[in-house]
Amino acid sequence: MVCLGNICRSPLAEGILRSKISEKHTVASAGTISFHEGEHPDKRSTKIAKEYGVDISHQRANYFTEKHLEDFDKIFCMDLKNLEDVLSKANSEEQRSKVFLIMEEAGVLSDEKIEVPDPYYGDMSDFEKVYQMLDQACEAIAEKYNLK
Ligand code: 4NP
Repeated sequence: MVCLGNICRSPLAEGILRSKISEKHTVASAGTISFHEGEHPDKRSTKIAKEYGVDISHQRANYFTEKHLEDFDKIFCMDLKNLEDVLSKANSEEQRSKVFLIMEEAGVLSDEKIEVPDPYYGDMSDFEKVYQMLDQACEAIAEKYNLK
């Protein structure tokens, strides 16, 4: 799961997907900037997740590197800029084929919204909206790839 800072959207996506699937599958998240590396998720993400019974407080921000493109089978990006940044690090067609825009790949586009909006400068209602989008997307991904 990839976003910009790895403190708001992708930590939520990581925690939500993990809560829905078998423990035998590995889920991780990272950001395309290293600025927040090592930090806890944003308090607002931790709060909204907790309200829905998902604990993301133990997660720490990582920086997305080429190694993730080798190590993971599927890479889900929150927005088009994240997608572009991840694809710029891919060095083969095989790697490029692993990279998706999460809402598109989950097949849960609503009102033509193909990006998970960055809630960093927003308020709790933006985090609630992001949570609902990611909950729907992760449910669809868990079903689509038979991860339960
Ligand atoms: P995220 O949100 O990409 O969902 O983790 C952001 C976090 C930090 C910043 C921007 C977006 N930032 O500019 O530091």
